[in-house]
Amino acid sequence: MDYDVKDLSLADAGKARIEWADRDMPVLASIRERFAAEKPLAGVRIAACLHVTTETANLMRTLAEGGADIVLCASNPLSTQDETAAALVQHYGIRTYAIKGEDTETYYRHIDEAIAHNPQMTMDDGADVVGRIHAEKPEALEHIIGGTEETTTGVIRLKAMAADGALKYPIVAVNDAMTKHLFDNRYGTGQSTLDGVIRATNRLLAGRTLVVSGYGWCGRGVAMRASGMGANVVVLEIDPLKALEAVMDGYRVMTAVEAAKQADIWITVTGDLNVIGESAFAVMKDGAIICNSGHFNAEINIPKLRAMAVSEREVRPLVEEFKMADGRVIYLLADGRLVNLACAEGHPANVMDMSFANQALCAEYMVKNAESLEPGVYGVPEDIDAGIAKLKLETLGVSIDTLTPEQQKYLASWQEGTV
Ligand SMILES: NC(=O)c1ccc[n+]([C@@H]2O[C@H](COP(=O)([O-])OP(=O)(O)OC[C@H]3O[C@@H](n4cnc5c(N)ncnc54)[C@H](O)[C@@H]3O)[C@@H](O)[C@H]2O)c1
Repeated sequence: MDYDVKDLSLADAGKARIEWADRDMPVLASIRERFAAEKPLAGVRIAACLHVTTETANLMRTLAEGGADIVLCASNPLSTQDETAAALVQHYGIRTYAIKGEDTETYYRHIDEAIAHNPQMTMDDGADVVGRIHAEKPEALEHIIGGTEETTTGVIRLKAMAADGALKYPIVAVNDAMTKHLFDNRYGTGQSTLDGVIRATNRLLAGRTLVVSGYGWCGRGVAMRASGMGANVVVLEIDPLKALEAVMDGYRVMTAVEAAKQADIWITVTGDLNVIGESAFAVMKDGAIICNSGHFNAEINIPKLRAMAVSEREVRPLVEEFKMADGRVIYLLADGRLVNLACAEGHPANVMDMSFANQALCAEYMVKNAESLEPGVYGVPEDIDAGIAKLKLETLGVSIDTLTPEQQKYLASWQEGTV
């Protein structure tokens, strides 16, 4: 079996961690059990490009139990857990191409290995495989019936492709499931981003001014959790509605230049470009820590920071210090890449349980329905989303009430009014 991982001797440690995560992924485990019996993905070749974490390993196990023939590569050069990658190869027989810290050339070589698998289905986190196939390897389109996409930024890229008429096959936007973005993006990113900042810096958040760029699903989570740890949270937005929501949620809202003068820690989660740039670097507080938890490392203008700095050095693993001409220093975490995955372990298993249940069920849905779907971006079917919510509640031991027939009738009626 061909593969490219850092060190197979890490495989036993990886297996133990994969099993640890599995204990907290009961919804995915129940799908795996059904897949093992029904084999809904029998013989389906999948190119999966995801963060190679313990949770992803449990998704790969589930797809493999369903009969899929998978090649997995990393969806970010810094997010791979090398012991997980080793275990996937050694213990689970999944062809994996991922090494933490791989350079850009290796990153794309690994993606090309997944494409060389002649996939019938793509499973992306950020649309790099879809982008690569459409731009450089159109011959791979011949076998592809459909795909899935995990994250907001990937969905935005795919919708842009579809609007241009460039997208050649149907893709389900897993991110758009309620059981994905309401939980993964908010509670997952909220917790794991702060985990990344803390593990990288060991700084106290209480009493510090922590700036969050973007008040979408991820930003809400980061702001909420930082506030819970005693940080003085400032939110930056460009959407008036979301800015207003942040104000009413109790945060200070201001412009980036104003915030730059106050930020002790500044986290971007916008999916946008150059959100922290020259004007902010020029006035930033001495010792400010900046990092990104959005998908691409484009949210901080690192080339500009490098050009403005008189010197740079690594002061801790994945913490780079940039000295400015006036003596101020700015600390950049993880080269501007997803701080939660580069400096910590990404989202906890319990939330990825729902995201990856969506991935597994959408893969099954695609096999059953691809023939009837035109190229385009599709939402997750409502029954899948609602089914996952129901199952998750059950696994959490939470029971809820159901509508009585009388209530159902009342809620569906337009004749009832003031009595
Ligand atoms: N770190 C992770 O593990 C993780 C998990 C899920 C999503 N993501 C990524 O995080 C990013 C955000 O995802 P989301 O689901 O919160 O998206 P979202 O669309 O819900 O929110 C993004 C917000 O950023 C705002 N924004 C855009 N440009 C801005 C700017 N220049 N300044 C301030 N605000 C700006 C938008 O108005 C929007 O409210 C995406 O790149 C997504 O792929 C990362």
